Amino acid sequence: MTLKIEAAGAADERAVVHLWRACGLTVPYNDPAADFRQALGREASDVLVARAECGRIVGAVMVGHDGHRGWLYYLAAEPMMQGQGVGSAMVEAAEAWLKARGIVKAQLLVRETNAGVVAFYEKLGFEIAPRLVMSKWLDGRE
Ligand SMILES: CC(C)(COP(=O)(O)OP(=O)(O)OC[C@H]1O[C@@H](n2cnc3c(N)ncnc32)[C@H](O)[C@@H]1OP(=O)(O)O)[C@@H](O)C(=O)NCCC(=O)NCCS
Repeated sequence: MTLKIEAAGAADERAVVHLWRACGLTVPYNDPAADFRQALGREASDVLVARAECGRIVGAVMVGHDGHRGWLYYLAAEPMMQGQGVGSAMVEAAEAWLKARGIVKAQLLVRETNAGVVAFYEKLGFEIAPRLVMSKWLDGRE
């Protein structure tokens, strides 16, 4: 399978959000379309997509850095095409995006309900880091 991996464009929003939904990555407290627009084409973040030969988007990942660490979000491979290297290719592309910006460590969060995916990341060289993640909404939400 030949994949073209590149930065998404604004016109890809619908297809990418559809893919994220199909992969069970969306939650009621995040608006994936707003997340897409906020990350897209920025100096410190972007959304990368994999296109099949016909042009259809079959993979996506949001990547960004905070000036210190790099972060991967919303990694998705089209359900019908899972197990064919799309997910690994997206992680590789995100790593290359970070390295090109001088970021030497990539991190990501895995929901407890999705712990099965840890084995996928371990194959790609990630390891579980013993940290507690703390968070706070800055827009007044509880
Ligand atoms: C996780 C995901 C992106 C992997 O994409 P994929 O295209 O199926 O992965 P690949 O084909 O590149 O798989 C690479 C290897 O990891 C393994 N693997 C893939 N998903 C796995 C999983 N959930 N658990 C264990 N191993 C997995 C594959 O079997 C393959 O092993 P191999 O090299 O020995 O053949 C895809 O399953 C997906 O979109 N899942 C739903 C969304 C999700 O959970 N995203 C991660 C959020 S943290």
